[in-house]
Amino acid sequence: MAQQEYYQKLVEQIKDWDYYYHVLDNPKVSDADYDRAYQELLKLEKEHPDWVVVDSPTQRVGGEPLKQFFKAKHEFPLLSLNNIYNEGELHDFIDRVSRNLPAGKQVSWFCETKFDGLSLAITYEGGRLLRAVTRGDGSNGEDVTANVQTIRSLPSKISFLKKLSLRAEALIPRLEFERIIKEQAEAGQREFANPRNAAAGTIRQLDPKVAESRKLKVFVYEILNAKELDIKTHEEAIELLKREKFLTDANGKACADALEIQAFYEKILVARPDLAYDIDGIVIKLQDLASQELLGITGKAPRWACAYKYPPLQAKTKIANIFVQVGRTGVLTPVAEFEPVFLAGSTVRFASLHNWEEMREKDIRIGDFVLIEKAGDIIPQVVRVLPEMRHGGETLLPIPHQCPVCASPVSQNDSEVAIRCNNLSCHSRLLGNLKHFVSRDALDIAGIGESVLTQLLEMGKLKTPIDLFFLSVDDFLALKETREKLATKLFLSIKARQKVELSRYLYGLGIPHVGVTVARVLARHFKSLKMLEMAEIEALTEVSGLGNVMAEAVYDFFRSPLYLEMEDQRAKSSLEVLDVVETQKVDGPLSGQILCFTGTLSRMGRAQASEYAARLGAQTTDSVTKQTTMLVYGEKAGSKLAKAEKLGISVLSEEEFFGTYPGGMN
Ligand code: IVH
Repeated sequence: MAQQEYYQKLVEQIKDWDYYYHVLDNPKVSDADYDRAYQELLKLEKEHPDWVVVDSPTQRVGGEPLKQFFKAKHEFPLLSLNNIYNEGELHDFIDRVSRNLPAGKQVSWFCETKFDGLSLAITYEGGRLLRAVTRGDGSNGEDVTANVQTIRSLPSKISFLKKLSLRAEALIPRLEFERIIKEQAEAGQREFANPRNAAAGTIRQLDPKVAESRKLKVFVYEILNAKELDIKTHEEAIELLKREKFLTDANGKACADALEIQAFYEKILVARPDLAYDIDGIVIKLQDLASQELLGITGKAPRWACAYKYPPLQAKTKIANIFVQVGRTGVLTPVAEFEPVFLAGSTVRFASLHNWEEMREKDIRIGDFVLIEKAGDIIPQVVRVLPEMRHGGETLLPIPHQCPVCASPVSQNDSEVAIRCNNLSCHSRLLGNLKHFVSRDALDIAGIGESVLTQLLEMGKLKTPIDLFFLSVDDFLALKETREKLATKLFLSIKARQKVELSRYLYGLGIPHVGVTVARVLARHFKSLKMLEMAEIEALTEVSGLGNVMAEAVYDFFRSPLYLEMEDQRAKSSLEVLDVVETQKVDGPLSGQILCFTGTLSRMGRAQASEYAARLGAQTTDSVTKQTTMLVYGEKAGSKLAKAEKLGISVLSEEEFFGTYPGGMN
């Protein structure tokens, strides 16, 4: 055999092995044999660079890191799905579909698992993978082709030559996820919270070599241009995908009616813990594509499909202890410490029990076995106690009469469930206030973290946050392990923030009910600290979005002894709060959007992100309501994300948002 012919055979051989390994999950050869063949391929390609074919397995290797992702418009909008949660809603869904189709029309279904990963649009043309784009807001996403090309479960060349627009989900299998977070922990990096975030984080980072090093899988589940390809049913589309060696859902199944769908739902529920990857429900799709088209869409979801969601994953564990935390506002929070347990992608050790009323309602005791789940997939919480596992030694945590930190008496307002420490100098409260004051969305003072603040507090150097501006280099030199260089750096990082925007200062003060957005609204309205200090309740309630409770809290705060003392001190310090200079209302790509940020953003603080969005024309809010049109989430997003998804609000990850709407920088 001529050597070049041999080379081509080798390419096909390795591609076939890749298919068996990555798509069929059924390796044909040993790793050693594979590696030997791969090395031989590399050698041949090095000797004969002109032989290299575009679909050679070696060509998947990620290229140079990108500078940024480019925005790409979807040719077919990437719809989301409406959710159902029980058998009753399943019947309603099926009835609704049947009712809206011409009488006598035969209705049948195709069910699949609902992959919990990152949604992608992938286009092939002339048999080649042309482009892969993230979902984004459904109309625009980011071009992530360079990363997606490295994924071996996705064929780089297919025999189908017409254009093929696909919808798919990128996933990180659970075992691979565990490997990645272990690697991250060892490298001292922040670990991904769950496999979905890991998939998103991998696809949306700029270096294709990183994507290549992580074993992503891409499941394909829709042909978006099926109609122009004369495909008649969803099942037919899936058959085509299988023929072309795409990875499709091995569990996918045609179902005739509600009974069969329910059976599928239950079968997959049982199989769920043993699947290699995370799923959060099943997807029910109408088979007949012409009927799909007749039904069309409502809002952003099709009428012809829905997601039948599973209840969140739960784990059983023991409450080893309950301790009490004192927050910045003085509220005492009972926190359960568990025997560590693995749940939905991470080990859970603690969960807030919120307050004593809730603890009593759920009858939670130290020593109890409990069921826990993660709210919004991220924040652990106790669902209920397992009373059948009690042996009698469990103990209730009594309502405290004094603060566990400063021992001063605590109080409970009649109208509130919260129990508070009222000592404004309680170290726990002060520490909370100080941490808040220096945080990214407030004064944003770099390098001053919990450990520095705790030491300064214990040394008696900080009675209020303003005291930070009286510290000298010598004060920092007195800290543990702090030499001249670090001490100077800390000193300078405070100095660098001695002129602060009004909105940041207001937020940093920690006024009850005043989050980043309210602080911005107040700053924009009153323009100076002086005006705000003087504002009467009436003037405060006139500010849009400010309820009575908030207005009163603001009014009271500016008259509190703590604030008056801080102002006295500030007058003597170098800290200056800047007045607001008028900004123009802008018309931009986000005009008309009411946007909410949630979770920890990695690129900038919340306040800065709000400014960024405002420069593009959006209005921002702190909470998710029916009026909200867009939610942007960062790491550790919780209930707001869950709520937005429930309300069908467009949900964008931080990367998608900044990638899709560049240009909000100053
Ligand atoms: S079909 C119009 N099928 O679920 C059809 N979606 O909540 C829309 N998803 O954003 C999608 N597995 O990312 C479909 N087998 C599957 C799916 C699936 C997961 C995701 C998809 C979508 C989300 C909607």
